[in-house]
Amino acid sequence: MKLGVNIDHIATLRNARGGFEPDIVQASEIALKNDIHALTMHLREDRRHIKDKDLFDVKALGAKINLEMAAVEEIQKIALMLNPYSVCLVPERRQEVTTEGGLDIKSQIDYLKEFIKPIKDKGILVSLFIDSDIEQVEASSIVGADYIELHTGSFSQSFLNKNYDKELKKLKHSALHAQNLGLKVNAGHGLNYQNVYLMKEIPNLQELNIGHSIISKAIFVGLDGAIKEMLELIK
Ligand code: PXP
Repeated sequence: MKLGVNIDHIATLRNARGGFEPDIVQASEIALKNDIHALTMHLREDRRHIKDKDLFDVKALGAKINLEMAAVEEIQKIALMLNPYSVCLVPERRQEVTTEGGLDIKSQIDYLKEFIKPIKDKGILVSLFIDSDIEQVEASSIVGADYIELHTGSFSQSFLNKNYDKELKKLKHSALHAQNLGLKVNAGHGLNYQNVYLMKEIPNLQELNIGHSIISKAIFVGLDGAIKEMLELIK
């Protein structure tokens, strides 16, 4: 299982003072010294954390970027210019604190097919961030995605209540169904140093995208140590 490190919250902290610290390029360099697969960055329409320039600065390091984005034309143009390793389409609402649920693929199959066409034509891998829902898995396959990323937010919440069996089962079931349809499967959201071991129970998961818990731990042990510790747990 590979690790994608989400560095949005380095930018969140930087933007709190509007200056340059902590420097996202320096953070990326530290992260890239480890055996990670990609740096995940979400360019939100409101630019609350990652800014356009951050993407190009990090790309200049030679990093594989997994660009999270809403399926809107403005961000699509930037994605095509940036040419990241992959994009992950996510739902976006201005009022939310974080990405609260999966993207509804089923209700916009034709729109998404058209939307991802120029992205795929450029050779950028396309992932869709969805809930553990068989109908959304099937819609993702119809749209022509390469990957789905399963939203692990409900699982993570249920883990806190020591009542995660049902959510883990749903994740496994969705992952298997997706793989039978030829989709590759990633997962992320709310994963941390306590609950991440359970992801090993989901067959053939390719990659975990983890941000908040790694950046939080980095405050105490440093970014390098926080990433190493997570890599050790998912090995
Ligand atoms: N994957 C996706 C698609 C996300 O939107 C996020 C949150 O930005 C993450 C993974 C990482 O979630 P967390 O910060 O809770 O680890």
